[in-house]
Amino acid sequence: MAKTSTSFFCKNCGASSPKWVGKCPACNEWNTYIEEVIHKEKTDFKSTWKKDTHGRSLKPVLLEDVEKGGEQRISIQDLELARVLGGGLVPGSVVLIGGEPGIGKSTLLLQVALQFKNKKVLYISGEESETQIKMRAERIPFSNNNCYLFTETSTQKIGKAFTEIQPDIVIVDSIQTLQSDLIDSTPGSISQIKETAGDMIRFAKETGTPVFLIGHITKDGTLAGPKLLEHMVDTVLQFEGDRHHVYRILRSTKNRFGSTNEIGIYEMQSGGLREVSNPSEILISQRDEALSGVAISATLEGMRPLLIETQALVSAAVYGTPQRNSNGYDAKRLNMLLAILEKKCGLRMGMQDVFVNIAGGLRVEDPGIDLGIVAAIVSSYENIPIDSKICFVGEVGLSGEIRAVSRIEQRISEAEKLGFKTVYLSKFNKLPKSKSGLNIVEVGKLDELLGFLFG
Ligand code: TYD
Ligand code: MG
Repeated sequence: MAKTSTSFFCKNCGASSPKWVGKCPACNEWNTYIEEVIHKEKTDFKSTWKKDTHGRSLKPVLLEDVEKGGEQRISIQDLELARVLGGGLVPGSVVLIGGEPGIGKSTLLLQVALQFKNKKVLYISGEESETQIKMRAERIPFSNNNCYLFTETSTQKIGKAFTEIQPDIVIVDSIQTLQSDLIDSTPGSISQIKETAGDMIRFAKETGTPVFLIGHITKDGTLAGPKLLEHMVDTVLQFEGDRHHVYRILRSTKNRFGSTNEIGIYEMQSGGLREVSNPSEILISQRDEALSGVAISATLEGMRPLLIETQALVSAAVYGTPQRNSNGYDAKRLNMLLAILEKKCGLRMGMQDVFVNIAGGLRVEDPGIDLGIVAAIVSSYENIPIDSKICFVGEVGLSGEIRAVSRIEQRISEAEKLGFKTVYLSKFNKLPKSKSGLNIVEVGKLDELLGFLFG
């Protein structure tokens, strides 16, 4: 008879303790301990698979003695994913992809699985049946006759499948559904996630096989399970977007093998996710007449220049407290811009409801779009449209000054590529004298800009 015991785990960092504690001694968070049943028995996640030490030696070596040898990456067809990963898959790496339900995580990874040619892919699903996955695969216009499905949740059985199939790439959908026979607690609990993720990582490292793990996220948008999970894996990607919009953004929040500045953009279509290689064209809505309250900003998402459309609506407040609402832009920053407009430009924003929306369901954190936001707000306030060939770039400071932004050349060349005629930017952005065909207007203060635009 196996011994059953319970243990307490910290929801935040995964630390364990034999008794309940109010404050986690490891991460100092309060009230994060929960009780789980542990039932240890002697069975193990067998490592009978083909080993590949992968240039790793079994004893400590001098850093100097390690041979350089360029890292061999496995190339991925999906260029957006490859970009986010830093240019291909690193053998033995573990990539965790998180995102809200229905955002398209399973679709993305199934698609990636089907795009591999001459690679044996094992897609493990604890969420859907084989027929469901087959139905999904039929919608996707790729095929790989070396893609195996396995609808199993026990890591011990999955370990056997690894030995049998010897996959080149493994996809696990999702880590929260896996369970280890060693532990009695339910799948998705902290101890199960720790154990099963540990098993998958061990497999990846010992055999040099890349593993993708799909992870659920909690209500507040963080990956479910212990924070520890994010420390254990090599790369953490976040798949996000508004479910009501077709655009999805793949962002990396941790990457041991590349920069976390890159993003990938996809469009959800009836036949799977389409890579969007020129995002600006779709983020700017097509319109045949000039509308007030619309301004275009040149921003950067990671290293990619992107032109986005800001829409603003300013209307007289009917209730005592005016409403402020912002989609895709920091609401606190919006309040700050409104206060600057009130104080420095004399616009009576305190009496107005203000709504701001970034088109396409995008969320932008770059302060370089401040100028575009202000232009859209004032355009709506004055009810004067802005010429659709004008684009804005600049950060607004608290005293109404317009500050320089980074990588201005890249932003401007993107605007030029898309046929813009005029760019408003900070006079502090020193531009190299180039033969750009754009009309560049340098502004130092917000009221100067408003003078130029609205007279
Ligand atoms: P899914 O990959 O199941 O999301 P997740 O695994 O993140 O929960 O994606 C589900 C949504 O994607 C679903 O609402 C239907 C939609 N979808 C398409 O629009 N086109 C497609 O080709 C596929 C496969 C799914
Ligand atoms: Mg899914």
